[in-house]
Amino acid sequence: SHGEVEDEHEFNYKKNDEKGPERWGELKPEWELCGKGEMQSPIDLMNERVIIGSHLGRLNRDYQPSNATLKNRGHDIMLKFEDGAGSIKINGFQYELQQLHWHSPSEHTVNGRRFALELHMVHEGKKGRMAVVTVLYKIGRADTFIRSLENELEGIAEMEDAEKNVGVIDPTKIKIGSRKYYRYTGSLTTPPCTQNVTWTVVKKVRTVTRKQVKLLRVAVHDDSNSNARPVQPINKRTVHMYRP
Ligand code: MLT
Ligand code: ZN
Repeated sequence: SHGEVEDEHEFNYKKNDEKGPERWGELKPEWELCGKGEMQSPIDLMNERVIIGSHLGRLNRDYQPSNATLKNRGHDIMLKFEDGAGSIKINGFQYELQQLHWHSPSEHTVNGRRFALELHMVHEGKKGRMAVVTVLYKIGRADTFIRSLENELEGIAEMEDAEKNVGVIDPTKIKIGSRKYYRYTGSLTTPPCTQNVTWTVVKKVRTVTRKQVKLLRVAVHDDSNSNARPVQPINKRTVHMYRP
């Protein structure tokens, strides 16, 4: 129209935009849940509504090093494990670690507070069951796992669709630092917003430097400078917290 390059991206994070989060559900029939789903993510984790107990049990992680590829997906940077990177077990179901990626600022909030960064470790089980384990970060000391990827990230952050093998990555190096976690049932936070995803949000907030956040955020193609979906209504859901 005015000579500007048409936005080829299928969705973005701009507020009040035709491809923004409020509209994702209308962009494609298969994305309908983004608008109409009753169990969407992220949510605000409100401490006074959380049911605390020990019945969920310790987070059962059994990860191992795997060959991995770093990929700029345009809306985020993803580290994809190419061999088996191990699994977690939740309620007797096993979920294999597939990939991890970052959102900034954080997608989940705690009592309305948003953090600088959120890590999503995406796991898949039988029959397409999904489980995401999440760590929240505020600004402070460097995160050592991200630091180990910094050189590779610098080469890929500004190149959309770029992909690079980064050798063997050890997911056991991702620090959690606490046994407490929130658990609820939600969805993928990007289209198609598939539901029945088991979410585990580690209670302990870890730290990251501003430089590290910036490095990961460069990948976001739109000028909203964010790849965080707004928080969604809880509706009839319950949030639990595991406390030993
Ligand atoms: C999510 O964490 O729900 C993601 O952003 C979905 C994905 O990894 O594609
Ligand atoms: Zn995510």
